[in-house]
Amino acid sequence: MPPRLEFREIFHRSADYENAVAMRDRILRAPLGLSFSEAELEAESADWHLGGFDPASGELVACLVLTPLTGRVVKMRQVAVVENRQHHGFGSSLVRFAEAFASSHGAHQVELHARAEVVAFYLRHDYKVEGPAFLEVTIPHRKMRKALR
Ligand SMILES: CC(C)(COP(=O)(O)OP(=O)(O)OC[C@H]1O[C@@H](n2cnc3c(N)ncnc32)[C@H](O)[C@@H]1OP(=O)(O)O)[C@@H](O)C(=O)NCCC(=O)NCCS
Repeated sequence: MPPRLEFREIFHRSADYENAVAMRDRILRAPLGLSFSEAELEAESADWHLGGFDPASGELVACLVLTPLTGRVVKMRQVAVVENRQHHGFGSSLVRFAEAFASSHGAHQVELHARAEVVAFYLRHDYKVEGPAFLEVTIPHRKMRKALR
């Protein structure tokens, strides 16, 4: 069993946030030849940023962003686990933590745009595909949704 992570909220523009942005940029954007603009980062000041930290080293291992949408729906986005620690269950733990976090902040539903290659990951977490594939950040995605209990 890998060690459990410590999950907590990360505050916009904190040192942990800058680490998370560097990780998101490296894992999610750079492979597509893209990067974050200052305007994109400023626009996420009202989002919830969540991180999973190695309790022994303090290293940021996993992160994601929750954007509150209208009503009681939040959008989960920018889900990333550090490269050498993927497929150990950390992404799953982070998704579960984020769902509980969203629920405790009044959300009833989570929606997301899943990259085609990770749709199976979200299906395992009971997200359902909605509608046809579409392009985002140059690659195919599917819209997925889950009702929170
Ligand atoms: C997608 C991502 C967030 C998933 O996080 P993760 O920590 O790798 O995910 P988990 O380990 O919880 O689950 C992934 C798989 O590993 C398997 N797994 C979980 N624990 C495991 C373990 N201890 N040993 C072996 N396999 C395991 C699960 O069965 C799961 O299979 P599935 O993807 O076919 O459903 C992560 O791989 C990642 O950052 N990928 C690159 C960025 C990306 O694509 N982000 C999503 C954008 S929509």
